[in-house]
Amino acid sequence: MLSRSVLVTGSNRGLGLELVKQISASLTPPEVIIAACRDRDKATSLQEVAEKHQNVHIVKLDVSDEASYKTFFEDVEKIVSPTGLSLLINNAGIAPKSTRINMVKWKQMMDTFSVNTVAPLMLTKTLRTLLTMAASQTQGNTLSVRRAAVINMSSILGSIAENDQGGLYPYRASKAALNAITKSLSIDLRGSNILVTSIHPGWVKTDMGGKNAPLTIEESISAIINTLHILNEEHNGEFVQYDGKKLPW
Ligand SMILES: NC(=O)c1ccc[n+]([C@@H]2O[C@H](COP(=O)([O-])OP(=O)(O)OC[C@H]3O[C@@H](n4cnc5c(N)ncnc54)[C@H](OP(=O)(O)O)[C@@H]3O)[C@@H](O)[C@H]2O)c1
Repeated sequence: MLSRSVLVTGSNRGLGLELVKQISASLTPPEVIIAACRDRDKATSLQEVAEKHQNVHIVKLDVSDEASYKTFFEDVEKIVSPTGLSLLINNAGIAPKSTRINMVKWKQMMDTFSVNTVAPLMLTKTLRTLLTMAASQTQGNTLSVRRAAVINMSSILGSIAENDQGGLYPYRASKAALNAITKSLSIDLRGSNILVTSIHPGWVKTDMGGKNAPLTIEESISAIINTLHILNEEHNGEFVQYDGKKLPW
């Protein structure tokens, strides 16, 4: 089993939807899969998955709506009680189109930071007690996704070392800052035995990745799930890609 319970944000399409599909279809699926999305009524593909798998619970969440976090916490707590939440995958993300210095806008920077950077941090803070509860079900101080983990869906475009093209200010900066958050969380949550890792899914054919991307959604997610199984202490506070290879900050 990957973990006892999983929560995926932005699970109505793209990589989030495929995460829910593949995790729920696994031979030994989690007891609970919480598929968070902004608009349940429009999430028809996700509803089909939930109809097939009783352990999939669709819960409404706009990650940038801070005012809704309290209700969201209560919804999640009810579903995962009494064992807590084992795995939080902060997947929801946006990538604004205009990229060069002459086009960048203040609001675009702020909106992108809100979804890609601030929300993963504040959601982790909100769900921390449930993650700690899950981690405390296991003895000792080992780290694994099976025990308790936060996975931040980052991007190689957030790597400062790998940036040789410039531009993409909102997206690059938001993911670089998300990586800084991964590092701090990995230190702050180590005492509670919660693993924290940033993952780059590869360049993938989604609405965001576009049709020229080399990886299919299925290929990326199946590799990510294999990688999640092997994450341990060595990967805490690290940046890895879908196949487990470590990436430079
Ligand atoms: N595709 C790639 O090549 C690639 C590469 C590197 C990293 N990534 C990262 O992987 C993650 C998933 O990307 P993707 O390719 O699957 O993108 P996508 O196809 O554009 O899907 C984005 C998902 O995020 C959700 N979302 C956006 N804003 C939200 C909000 N405020 N609250 C809740 N959900 C929100 C969307 O929901 P709505 O339908 O409601 O908008 C959708 O479910 C992102 O973090 C992205 O940065 C992707």
